Amino acid sequence: MNRKFAAVMAGLMLTAALTGCSAKQDTDQPDIYVICKSKDSYWDTTRWGAVDAGEEMGLTIHYEAPDTEADIDVQIQMVQDAIAAGADAIVLAPLDTEALNGVLKDADMQGIPVLTIDSDVSYTGRAVCVSTQNLSAGAIAAREAAALVGEGEIGVICHKADAQTAKERMGGFVTELDGNAIEEDVYPDIEVVEVKYCEGDIERSKEGTKQLIEEHPDLKLVYATNQPGTVGACKAIEELGLADQITLVGFDYFDGADVYLGNGTLDGVMTQNPYNMGYLGVRYAKKLIEGKLVPSIVDTGATYVEAANLNDPDIQWLIDPIVDRPAFDQ
Ligand code: BGC
Repeated sequence: MNRKFAAVMAGLMLTAALTGCSAKQDTDQPDIYVICKSKDSYWDTTRWGAVDAGEEMGLTIHYEAPDTEADIDVQIQMVQDAIAAGADAIVLAPLDTEALNGVLKDADMQGIPVLTIDSDVSYTGRAVCVSTQNLSAGAIAAREAAALVGEGEIGVICHKADAQTAKERMGGFVTELDGNAIEEDVYPDIEVVEVKYCEGDIERSKEGTKQLIEEHPDLKLVYATNQPGTVGACKAIEELGLADQITLVGFDYFDGADVYLGNGTLDGVMTQNPYNMGYLGVRYAKKLIEGKLVPSIVDTGATYVEAANLNDPDIQWLIDPIVDRPAFDQ
């Protein structure tokens, strides 16, 4: 497909995707409500995965997301609205492990399948969770971090205290490095000295990183647990001119990460597969509507991306699976 045709197609698909919001369409197609965590551009890739699956499988996709990751009440309301609108299935990236359980149970009781993507909830009635195995991803990040610095103090920029993704990325990382009651401390010369919670906000993550560096003069490495956290940490290290002294391992590739990887501000980034979360979430929603069996957990993988493997073709696809598609008008 040439670029111009691709752009026209993308425009048409975008129109289709945008008309899919909120009110149920008067068609025979099942209505799938996809509710993500915020209007951050990170979610565009997930949304395209859902839109593509909807197109391919003859489903109407209604996409919603609160403005920010702090808007848990808005997200709960969105689930309630989807139930009231007669959703055939709800695919949700939950902002909280507990707070949505009540409304998800309501959906379940009304026979509406509920699937989670990206993060999970503690409610056992959700049908499938399609996500990164975040404990393992955190442990991989820890091993890469240990290989980079060998010893010293580590500070963490974490996106949330109460989201499953954050708890597990932290848990996997800290347990791998410092051990716990059962696991031995295999890296005795490395210590996680502080965690700053920055609500997945770039500015707060930038300031948090600067504070970590100021408060811990011997700090060797910063670990950031999501995309805004990583962007904020990159900006802080760049502004302070400390790329040679502070090592940074982040989460989620972003536009411009190649520059930071190239100039050594960012040493590596755990990269998830948000496109497949959207795509497979919708695919399994269709199976549930058809009364078919689905697995309860689907691992979409996590890959460590660094300057050395950035140009590998599989990495290039992973970091940009939606080549040439326009950003959504939020
Ligand atoms: C996480 C999401 C988070 C997103 C954007 C990703 O790393 O998987 O849970 O909401 O970053 O902040």
